[in-house]
Amino acid sequence: MKIQSAHSLSGIIRLPGDKSISHRAAILASMATGETRIENYATNADCSSTLDCLRSLGVEIRQENSTVFVKGVGKDGFTKPIKELDCGNSGTTMRLLAGVLAGQNFDSVLIGDASLSKRPMRRIIEPLTLMGAKIESENDHAPLKIYGGNSLQAISYKLPVASAQVKSCILLAAINAEGKSKIQNPKSKIQCPTSRNHTEIMLRYLGAEIEEKYIETENRFVQEISVGGRSPLAAKNLEIPSDVSSAAFFIVAAACLKRSELVLENVGLNRTRTAVLDVLQSLGADIEQLNQREVSNEQIGDLLVRGRRDGGFASDTQKTIDGDVIANLIDEIPILAVFATQLENGLTVRGAEELRVKESDRIAATVENLRRMNATVEEFPDGFRVEKSELKGGVVDSFGDHRIAMAFAVAALLATGETEIVGADAASVSFPEFFQTLASIRK
Ligand code: S3P
Repeated sequence: MKIQSAHSLSGIIRLPGDKSISHRAAILASMATGETRIENYATNADCSSTLDCLRSLGVEIRQENSTVFVKGVGKDGFTKPIKELDCGNSGTTMRLLAGVLAGQNFDSVLIGDASLSKRPMRRIIEPLTLMGAKIESENDHAPLKIYGGNSLQAISYKLPVASAQVKSCILLAAINAEGKSKIQNPKSKIQCPTSRNHTEIMLRYLGAEIEEKYIETENRFVQEISVGGRSPLAAKNLEIPSDVSSAAFFIVAAACLKRSELVLENVGLNRTRTAVLDVLQSLGADIEQLNQREVSNEQIGDLLVRGRRDGGFASDTQKTIDGDVIANLIDEIPILAVFATQLENGLTVRGAEELRVKESDRIAATVENLRRMNATVEEFPDGFRVEKSELKGGVVDSFGDHRIAMAFAVAALLATGETEIVGADAASVSFPEFFQTLASIRK
C-alpha cells in the first residue's frame, strides 16, 4: 500500500461497529435464551472469528451485512465442537471464550495464529483454575485445551493487570458458577473502571445479577464487581456504536491537517474508551462531542473534528502520559505516538508495558516505524518519548498488526512524499474498509 501526503480530510462518515462490543454481543446473545438481532456488528476478521467459533459450538447465527441474528442456546446449551476452535488473530475471542468454555460439560481446544499463540494466557488460566476449571496449555500459551465436566465455583479475585479481557473471561465463567463472584480491579485515583466495561454493561442490560461499588483505601479507589452465578440471560436486541478506537485514526489525521472538517457519526463514547479524546483535546486538538445519547445502555454521540490552526499544537511544557489512564487508551497509543510528532514539545508515554504483548510488540513497532519516517524517538521498556519531528515518506511495516498499519497510514498523510506500508492488509483484522474510507475523505 502506497500513501501520499494529504492536505485535509473532510466529510461525514459512519465507521463500523465497535470490535470489543461486537464480540461481547455475539457471545452473550449465544448464552441468552431467545433470539437477538444485533445491528452494526463489526464485519472484521476478529469478530468473524468469534461468530465462527460460536457456530462451531452449535449456535445458529445468520449474518446480513452488519446485521447479525443469533438464536441463543442458553448458558448450558452449547454443543461439543467437532474440531479446534480457531480464534485467528483475536485475543478477545480466545480469552472470552475460555471463560465460557471452562464451565461446559465437553472438552474443547482454542487455537490461534502465530501472533495469538505468542500472547500470554497465564492471566486467564490462573483465575479459571481457581474456579475449578481444568486447562492445558503450551507453557501458558495457546493452544488451550479446556476440559469439560468441571462445575465452577464462585471466585474472589484481585486482577493483577488492568485487562478487560481477563475481567470479562472471569465474568463469563462466573455467570455459570455456583455462588456469587467478586472481582476487584486494580486501584485507581478516580472512580472509573480501570478497563473497558462493556461486558458489565451488557450483562446488566440482559438481566444478569451484577453490582459495582468502589472501596476507598488511602485516597485510591478499588472497583469491585459482584456477579451472581447461574442467573439466566434474556435475549434483547442490541445496537453497536461505531468504534472509537477506529475513529481515533481519522480524528488524529483530521486534527493535524489544516482546514479539515470531519464529522464521525454514532461513535461509542463510553468513558472507559474516551481517554484518547481527553488527551488529544488537552494537547490542543479541536474535537467537539455532539448529539450525545444512549443505545443498548452504551453512550454514543457524533464527533466534529477541525484541523489545526496555523500555530500548530503549541505547549510550553513536556507532556507525559502514564498511570491509570494508560489502560483506558491502550489501543490508541500507536496513533498518539504519530500525533506526538506534531506537538511542540513532543510526548512521553510510560507505564505501557502491556503494549509489548498485543498483536505485535507495539512499542518496538511504533518506534521502528517512526524512525524509518525520520522521527526522533527514544524507546523505554514501558513506553517511548517522541520529539516534534518532520515526518518523511519511507517504507514502514505493519508487523502484521492492524493498529500499526492504520497508525502509519495516518503518519503517511502527515509526511512529505510517499510512504509504503508493507503488510497493510493487516488492517482488516479490525477495519477492512479503512483505506477506502480514508480515500473517500482525503482532499
Ligand atoms: C479488549 C481489551 C484490551 C484491548 C483489546 C480489546 C477487549 O485488551 O487492548 O484490543 O475487547 O476486552 P486487554 O484486556 O488485554 O488489555
